[in-house]
Amino acid sequence: MYGIVNKAIEELVKEHYGAEKWELIKIRSAVDVDFFISNEPYDDAITYQLAGAVADEMQISLSEVLIKFGEHWVLKTGREKYGSLMEAGGNNLKEFLCNLPVFHNRIMLMYPKLTPPEFKITDIEDRSVCVHYFSKREGLQEFVRGLLQGLGKMYATNVTIELLQHRGAAADHEVYKVSW
Ligand code: HEM
Repeated sequence: MYGIVNKAIEELVKEHYGAEKWELIKIRSAVDVDFFISNEPYDDAITYQLAGAVADEMQISLSEVLIKFGEHWVLKTGREKYGSLMEAGGNNLKEFLCNLPVFHNRIMLMYPKLTPPEFKITDIEDRSVCVHYFSKREGLQEFVRGLLQGLGKMYATNVTIELLQHRGAAADHEVYKVSW
């Protein structure tokens, strides 16, 4: 994944736990990179190693790390570094979610080697939609939950997220029902 993702993990850790913890986490992860460069692609394994090391060092579950990271990605990385892009996503949560399937098209202009997620929105009601998440990567189900929670916070909207389907033998993608 692009370095901006690993940099965001670094920021999240430093903000919540301090710079010393980040050094310990890096040692634990065995990732041998001094500085991540935002617009340079890195092996996905690096991102997974860092997330795993945060969970081990902080003695929290990997799910918790991914949820926190998803929220941070929307509320900090997205809003602070790409404010206008996030704003263009919609005037409210429902609009943003309905536009989600094309959101990464614009990101691809900045990050041409992106391997983006794919989203499909169905069952559009007044106060809920179903978000279908397709990915070439494994294990990011709880990251998406955090992203959806973060979007709820961004629009000051109370959301409930229910996982209706997860990837496995019977299905090739996750489905989340997002209600507000
Ligand atoms: C301006 C804001 C955003 C930027 C700059 C951005 C950029 C990126 C980048 C660079 C990656 C790594 C993929 C790669 O390097 O191949 C990524 C992955 C991802 N993004 Fe975004 N993104 C943004 C907002 C969002 C939002 C709002 C969502 C969903 C609610 C989202 C969902 C995801 C997911 C789930 C992945 C993991 C990739 C996978 O599943 O394979 N992103 N994004």
